[in-house]
Amino acid sequence: MIPLTSAHIVSVARLHCETLTGLLSALGPSATAAFYDGYVASPACIAFVDLGNCGVRGFILGSDEPEAMRSQALRARRWRIFSRLGFAALRRPSLVPLIVGGATGLRASAFDTRAPELTYIAVRSGQGRSGIGSQLVRAFEQALAARGARRYELSVETANSAAIGFYERHGMVQIGQYRQFGADYRRYAKVFGDDNQGKGA
Ligand SMILES: CC(C)(COP(=O)(O)OP(=O)(O)OC[C@H]1O[C@@H](n2cnc3c(N)ncnc32)[C@H](O)[C@@H]1OP(=O)(O)O)[C@@H](O)C(=O)NCCC(=O)NCCS
Repeated sequence: MIPLTSAHIVSVARLHCETLTGLLSALGPSATAAFYDGYVASPACIAFVDLGNCGVRGFILGSDEPEAMRSQALRARRWRIFSRLGFAALRRPSLVPLIVGGATGLRASAFDTRAPELTYIAVRSGQGRSGIGSQLVRAFEQALAARGARRYELSVETANSAAIGFYERHGMVQIGQYRQFGADYRRYAKVFGDDNQGKGA
């Protein structure tokens, strides 16, 4: 496990679009790379990659201060991000409601957007269930703990039974649900550390 840097962004963005649903995947690898470039420029970002012989096998990204991470990412890479968003909207006008929803949806959402968050995790298909996801979660939790956080949240699509199995195996507990971009999501939380393993809120 090593920190995710700008050298990994193209591979990570491609893996993101291959494995994850949501706004970034709909926008495509180029726009996704612009967002990741912003995230890794933010001091609030916590992110790791797992590298194999053929490159990035998995990655995890989140933050102890996700709102700060998002705003610092936008500030750091404003023109790159907005130009990719504009290009994606011109290429596929059907994405415009998603982009507008992405800008307003977080503020209107049913969960605390300031809570420490595991925002993205993905492992290359074919590498699944080989323990890479678990190692990424451990590295993420160690980094969060080093910053003083003992609890984090995440969102997962209700239809993603594999990820739900993975999160529940790791002691994450459902604390809510909501609907965004036409899909149903569950919100999970995990309190980690010696005494609180498995408690959700
Ligand atoms: C979710 C994901 C990151 C798990 O990574 P992984 O490397 O396969 O996870 P691990 O090998 O560490 O799995 C550990 C445990 O998680 C659970 N798990 C993993 N994949 C599972 C699946 N398909 N179905 C049910 N449980 C699963 C199991 O309990 C597993 O232990 P076991 O193999 O001993 O039964 C990976 O499947 C993935 O990238 N999925 C696509 C992207 C995605 O959905 N990301 C989350 C979006 S919210």
